[in-house]
Amino acid sequence: MKEQLTTLIEQSEELRSSLTALLPMLRAISGGYPAVFVAEKSDTLPSLVNMVFESDSITPDAVKKAYAEADLDEAAHASALLVCGDTAALISLSPICYCDAVKCGKALIAASKGDKSLLDSYTAPEVCGTAKRLKGKVAIVTGAAQGFGAGIADSMASEGAHIVIADLNGDGAKEAAEELCRKYGSHAAVAVTANVSDEESVKAMVEAAVLAFGGLDVLVNNAGIVRAGSLAEMQKKDFELVTAVNYTAYFLCTKYSVIPMKAARAVCPDITSDIIEINSKSGLAGSNKNFAYAGSKFGGIGLTQSFALELAEYGIKVNAICPGNFLDGPLWSDPEKGLFVQYLNAGKVPGAKTVDDVRKFYEAKVPLGRGCRTEDVARAILYVIEQQYETGQAIPVTGGQEMLK
Ligand SMILES: NC(=O)c1ccc[n+]([C@@H]2O[C@H](COP(=O)([O-])OP(=O)(O)OC[C@H]3O[C@@H](n4cnc5c(N)ncnc54)[C@H](O)[C@@H]3O)[C@@H](O)[C@H]2O)c1
Repeated sequence: MKEQLTTLIEQSEELRSSLTALLPMLRAISGGYPAVFVAEKSDTLPSLVNMVFESDSITPDAVKKAYAEADLDEAAHASALLVCGDTAALISLSPICYCDAVKCGKALIAASKGDKSLLDSYTAPEVCGTAKRLKGKVAIVTGAAQGFGAGIADSMASEGAHIVIADLNGDGAKEAAEELCRKYGSHAAVAVTANVSDEESVKAMVEAAVLAFGGLDVLVNNAGIVRAGSLAEMQKKDFELVTAVNYTAYFLCTKYSVIPMKAARAVCPDITSDIIEINSKSGLAGSNKNFAYAGSKFGGIGLTQSFALELAEYGIKVNAICPGNFLDGPLWSDPEKGLFVQYLNAGKVPGAKTVDDVRKFYEAKVPLGRGCRTEDVARAILYVIEQQYETGQAIPVTGGQEMLK
């Protein structure tokens, strides 16, 4: 039975696609629930929806009793409880847990008494505290295994969001997600190995997010790469790689992320969602011997404005954040591949003889005198999400280095 169901889900494109829209609708109707139960071993995603139960009533005590009677630990076994009017559906993220989930669901529904407050008792308090600014929001952060993405994911999780860490570096993503779960509770994050420039991979990433947390509220399109070099040095394959990861991937991630966002909006017209591109100050002004990167980022602002126009009617705001140089991050400071080394070798900084010379040159360009930090970017992200009256913007976070004309 378990094997048949697993095969069914893996092979059924249609079923997976319909879940990507169905779950966000159920979550929207139920006022933001679920997104509260996440299987501990969620790397077995995606799995299945197992049943829809008719429910008269639910109480916290009844649920606790049901779990106790079924001899189950809810954190390990149940994944998501959808409550839609007087109907509840139990979602299992792990095929291994299928039988347990059914057992548990039956016990739960049999004992239920129709009180949504029970769900509050199951949200992890350390994640969903009262003052959290992103309480219960589900966010994909691409390229979040390290650098800006990891910092953004951490800041968002600390504000109560459930994070999908999506990265080409699967091991790094897993480590980053585990770290967030240690810090903010077991529902804080899951990891997905994803290549944002590959359409199938992006589709699977969005499906995994929805199956993990029931919907999607925020896409932070952060994954990005740099290949610096002059016209003479730049190879076509490097130019195309930068374009694929920084520009085309933004289109792909947005194309699939809006499916659950639109689905939620279709049943709850008040719901708003956010697409946030981590752009760059190089998207606002040209960058000497770094045109592949700057071109991809300028293009990203064109996409941001165009997506914003198309998606406004669905309550999806689309904004770009344009950070200044993250001089302490691995993109700059990696001793082998970092930009300090690349720029030194490319002769981009006149007279620079060491990596330190290159660093000082870049610090001196910033009116506020330092490199951009992840917390600076995180503040802009919170602003964009909370601001209900702005879309299509490119917001500089550059210490004054780049100012809007
Ligand atoms: N570092 C800066 O100074 C700076 C400044 C402005 C803007 N930005 C932008 O911020 C974003 C993050 O930069 P960073 O400095 O943190 O970079 P980083 O190199 O430290 O991290 C990038 C992450 O993206 C992942 N990644 C790369 N290609 C991928 C792909 N195809 N699919 C999925 N994941 C992929 C990497 O594995 C890595 O974990 C980028 O969009 C970058 O352009 C960076």
